[in-house]
Amino acid sequence: MGKLRAGKTTIIALCGKGGVGKTSISATIVKLLAENPESKVLAIDADPAVGLATALGITVRKTVDDIRNDLIRRVEMGQGGGRAEMVSQLDYEMLTALEEYRNLAFIAIGRPEKDGCYCQVNHILKDLIAALAENFDYVVIDGEAGIEQVNRRVMEQVSHLILVSDASAKGLNVVKTIQAVAASAIQFEKAGLILNRLRGEQEREKLSIPTNLNCLGWIPEDDAVRTFDMEGRSLLTLPDCRALRAVKSCMALLGLPKSIILNPSVLPGSSGGPTGPRRFATAPE
Ligand SMILES: Nc1ncnc2c1ncn2[C@@H]1O[C@H](COP(=O)(O)OP(=O)(O)O)[C@@H](O)[C@H]1O
Ligand SMILES: [Mg+2]
Repeated sequence: MGKLRAGKTTIIALCGKGGVGKTSISATIVKLLAENPESKVLAIDADPAVGLATALGITVRKTVDDIRNDLIRRVEMGQGGGRAEMVSQLDYEMLTALEEYRNLAFIAIGRPEKDGCYCQVNHILKDLIAALAENFDYVVIDGEAGIEQVNRRVMEQVSHLILVSDASAKGLNVVKTIQAVAASAIQFEKAGLILNRLRGEQEREKLSIPTNLNCLGWIPEDDAVRTFDMEGRSLLTLPDCRALRAVKSCMALLGLPKSIILNPSVLPGSSGGPTGPRRFATAPE
């Protein structure tokens, strides 16, 4: 189920303790990838708090969980129909939850599902997410602390699993815990660690990082990221800054395109602004 077509879609999933910077880094990765107008990028917000939507300046109208709950309600009322009917209904509704802006698309998973086994619906939805992902060159999943949630609710197989931590012992412990279960929780080709909000190389050297984990680099504490968050500005419009450059070099270590075409004018929040209905909210620039 949900197998990747070799070499076509690169799926990047980010996990780590709450507050370490997963959403900020996910949004920055999305920005970097989407700056190449040739690349089709899908951003998936797998955090129930839909932080990635805010970080990208997107208004979420419908989540995958809303679609799921609607269908479950119909099934409970005996109006679910057969599997084929469910698949075609969900397939259609999934598209209505997709926000698109040129080469960038966004979908939010929503809250964790309510109790009860609705395995068939869950499986269909996951298959549909995997099928949707195949239409893109890159998929970036802003995950939760639990990598198992990404498996259960979004995708069973990713290309790159990125574990994010800040300099705190708690953050690094969560990384170790995720790493311990990662191999059994999700299929991935490469895993790497990104350290975020560090004050410098000296701080980096003091940290005890799991030696068997590929450290992709560290992102400095950067006022540009902080200010964008405080002012509710879309990170798609983050200007060149130390954090952006650091994320770019981490991506290069994953073998992701180094020659990113810097063309911010095609992104939401630029002077052109979004076009058409159901598009990203204009970034408050
Ligand atoms: N490199 C950074 N420099 C400064 N502030 C940062 C940096 N990375 C994240 N932040 C801030 O830290 C807070 C938590 O980041 P966030 O990306 O929401 O974490 P998570 O998604 O892991 O919960 C936010 O206020 C964000 O603006
Ligand atoms: Mg987050």
